[in-house]
Amino acid sequence: MTGSTPLTLEQQAALGSGANFWASKAVGDVPAIVMADGPHGVRKQAGDPDHLGVGASVPATCFPPAVGLAQTWDPALAERVGAALGEESQAAGVHVLLGPGVNIKRDPRCGRNFEYFSEDPLLAGVLGAAWVRGLQSRGVGASLKHYAANNAEDDRMRVSSDVDPRTLREVYLRPFQRVVQQAQPWTVMCAYNRLNGLHASEHPWLLTEVLREQWGFEGVVVSDWGAVRDRPAATAAGLDVEMPTTSGVSDAQVVDAVRAGTLDPAAVELAARRVAALAARATAAARPGTTVDVDAHHALAREVASRAVVLLKNDGGLLPLSPQASLAVIGPFAARPRFQGGGSSHVNPTRVDVPLEEIRRLVEGPVTYAEGLGDHDEAVRVAGEAETAVVFLGLSDADESEGYDRTHIELPAEQLQLLRAVVAVQPRTVVVLSHGGVVRLADVAALAPAVLDGALLGQAGGGALADVLLGVVNPSGRLAETVPVRLEDTPSFLTFPGEHGHIVYGERVFVGHRWYDARDLPVSFPFGHGLSYTTFEHGDLAVEETSGGLRVGVTVRNTGGREGREVVQVYAGLPGSQVARAPRVLVGSAVVGLAAGAAERVVVEVSRDDLAYWDVRLDRWVVEPGTYEVSVGASSRDLRQSTTVALAGDDVRPPLGLSSTVGEVLADPVVGPRFRAAVQGTGGLFDADAAEGDALGVDLARMMAWVPVDRLVAFTGGVLTRERLEELLAAG
Ligand code: BGC
Repeated sequence: MTGSTPLTLEQQAALGSGANFWASKAVGDVPAIVMADGPHGVRKQAGDPDHLGVGASVPATCFPPAVGLAQTWDPALAERVGAALGEESQAAGVHVLLGPGVNIKRDPRCGRNFEYFSEDPLLAGVLGAAWVRGLQSRGVGASLKHYAANNAEDDRMRVSSDVDPRTLREVYLRPFQRVVQQAQPWTVMCAYNRLNGLHASEHPWLLTEVLREQWGFEGVVVSDWGAVRDRPAATAAGLDVEMPTTSGVSDAQVVDAVRAGTLDPAAVELAARRVAALAARATAAARPGTTVDVDAHHALAREVASRAVVLLKNDGGLLPLSPQASLAVIGPFAARPRFQGGGSSHVNPTRVDVPLEEIRRLVEGPVTYAEGLGDHDEAVRVAGEAETAVVFLGLSDADESEGYDRTHIELPAEQLQLLRAVVAVQPRTVVVLSHGGVVRLADVAALAPAVLDGALLGQAGGGALADVLLGVVNPSGRLAETVPVRLEDTPSFLTFPGEHGHIVYGERVFVGHRWYDARDLPVSFPFGHGLSYTTFEHGDLAVEETSGGLRVGVTVRNTGGREGREVVQVYAGLPGSQVARAPRVLVGSAVVGLAAGAAERVVVEVSRDDLAYWDVRLDRWVVEPGTYEVSVGASSRDLRQSTTVALAGDDVRPPLGLSSTVGEVLADPVVGPRFRAAVQGTGGLFDADAAEGDALGVDLARMMAWVPVDRLVAFTGGVLTRERLEELLAAG
């Protein structure tokens, strides 16, 4: 198939499923390829792959999981991580690494949020595309997952995500579209769940029409492990490889379906061709004998981790700590760090930095430690004796994981009791958080003057946290997800995890910060928030229209006393839009490093595509004409400068017909004026003056605006005929 011998139907079918848990089959001239998880480290099983794929894996660098990486907001870093993972994959003989995961964090309770980037489709897509570019630059393929609308873990293999078309396009498909179009991953992994009733693995619209025909995907669609129920149906829909092995069972089903005339042999051949092309490309790019500089990768993991830490609050400049200070370090995560999530992405790290040891390395003064939990007295004693207490809080492995969702977003109650006890004796208390999904922080923020959010930082997180605590690194992480005041405020509070096999995405496009901003709800910490040990000023905002969209320029000045990094965030909104929109959405961002006192002009190119909405009437993207509000800021709630820009936009005139309303017809620039002229003097309701409206107690014009025009034939007593109406409408 790659060249010489054509494959038989049986051979083509054989190429469409795995040889074992991780490899595809070698068939004819087509070589086998090896896949491995992904996404923040290479999980290559040692020895023979077991049937569940859960056996021990060979040591690999555990980079910060997506939740941490996303907090850097930096595609350049994501690309470097991707490239390093590419090297590790090459060394391990892995051809395709199963990541990145660009599913949207719809609800903070989703157990797998740690493996995804953001609640925001732009940020998730930008980071995902950079990661794929980095990985594939090393001759290793990515597997963009989990396509699509896999935003809950409970019942993930059966549940239907019920999403309306606009929401699907603008929020849930958007990051996949960006990654496919900007980075062309070698493979895409279909999700376990159903989308609007149909399994993702059997969804022709998803796997073929949208992915290939609309977005131009050229690679292989691989199933999530065990996601295929009906292989012939999946093949017909556009799935190329079922993973893992089915020991030939589903290959035979494919052959039988072709023989029975229920499956087009062309679909089987096409899938086999794509697998053969992938295998040829992947094996040609393989570099056996590649060695990994484990120390350099650990250093990169530390750099990324230190950039991922978010300084949530820092009252009175409590941080950074003085290296001469005496410290009480409290909490089990200080000695046994939580740095990755549970499930298929769980990496066997090459080594692990322990925060307590790393702090001791940087601090000259005495550092005492108490585990705290189950032993509040000891923690209180050491906290009282030291100048400052650093309390590590967070979620344990079992609290959140792939495969099941959380039912709440609370920190364990005992941890809050510990914090209360410590703060009572030590007002100078810093909290350090480790968690994969968002936790409610209202109590923590009320108790502690300084809070560092470490999310999950990978194997070098301990050193990174010590660096930030002691000021070796000036924090520049920004939240990629809103921290709500209460779970009850979250957009999908009432529709998660769903019922009777369906999750209704009832909040529609109002996901994440779009929801909180649209509803003007207070939040504990907004999307994009993160403090620094220095301060920044944004000035001279200028926005101009370009052929590609908007060019946004802003001068950022470091107004504090030390070098630091600012994440400039660009938001845009369209007041008075024809469709329901949040007041602002993220349309671009840039990371800029500045010495104390330095200033730089930062330019962010906003793509026209990112200003568009999905028009369900026209079934396409539309840039609505109007005056857009463009703001730059340091979070979705900390806008520093705003301006407006008028965009001509696309022609969004909907096709007019007899069931169009009077309002729609009047709004049409061509038909509207003719229609107005035609209905004047027809007598009856439409011609009614204000007095008649008054008599009915209504604003007649507004009422009439909602009347379909064909009803006017009767309302005007036949003066406006159906033929005349058709003639008027045809003028458009
Ligand atoms: C996960 C995928 C993973 C695969 C292989 C599945 O359970 O959903 O993300 O790549 O297993 O381990």
